[in-house]
Amino acid sequence: MDATSGPRRRRIRSSRARAMWVLLCFAVMAAVGLWGGPGSASSPRGAEREFVITARQFSFDPPRIYVNAGDHVTLRVRSLDITHGLYLDAYGINVKVPPMEEGIVRFVADRPGKLRYRCSVICGSLHPLMVGEIVVQPNRPYSVAGVVAVIVGFGGLAYVWWRKGA
Ligand code: CUA
Repeated sequence: MDATSGPRRRRIRSSRARAMWVLLCFAVMAAVGLWGGPGSASSPRGAEREFVITARQFSFDPPRIYVNAGDHVTLRVRSLDITHGLYLDAYGINVKVPPMEEGIVRFVADRPGKLRYRCSVICGSLHPLMVGEIVVQPNRPYSVAGVVAVIVGFGGLAYVWWRKGA
């Protein structure tokens, strides 16, 4: 009796385990898809972000700003002394900022990563040190919510399936 029911039980268990694995794989694939998909990197709900960056020999203040992927970013660059510039490599945007004036840089932070910018007007001996960066963070609240929803959803399905088989 045990000799026949033993292997049979094991077979049922293993097929259920396989079903769990398939579900888990689907959940992970869906999660990865959401995470790396268009929704996470460049959410159409990106916020409008505006920053004032002051330039003076030989630095930008603040030297680093943080935005989220998908944000519509406006930089108002003001010079406190002589003419400086701001060149944003990744977007090929350049503005020249004469003393006490303001230059405007606008772009959509369409992907996570670090965007470096530098002064584009030779303004003195330490001009090469006039650099700054914009840290574009993944649009996490959106991604995490999506991933959690997917995992909870598939987990629930798997649980129901499991109970039905038991
Ligand atoms: Cu400031 Cu070059």
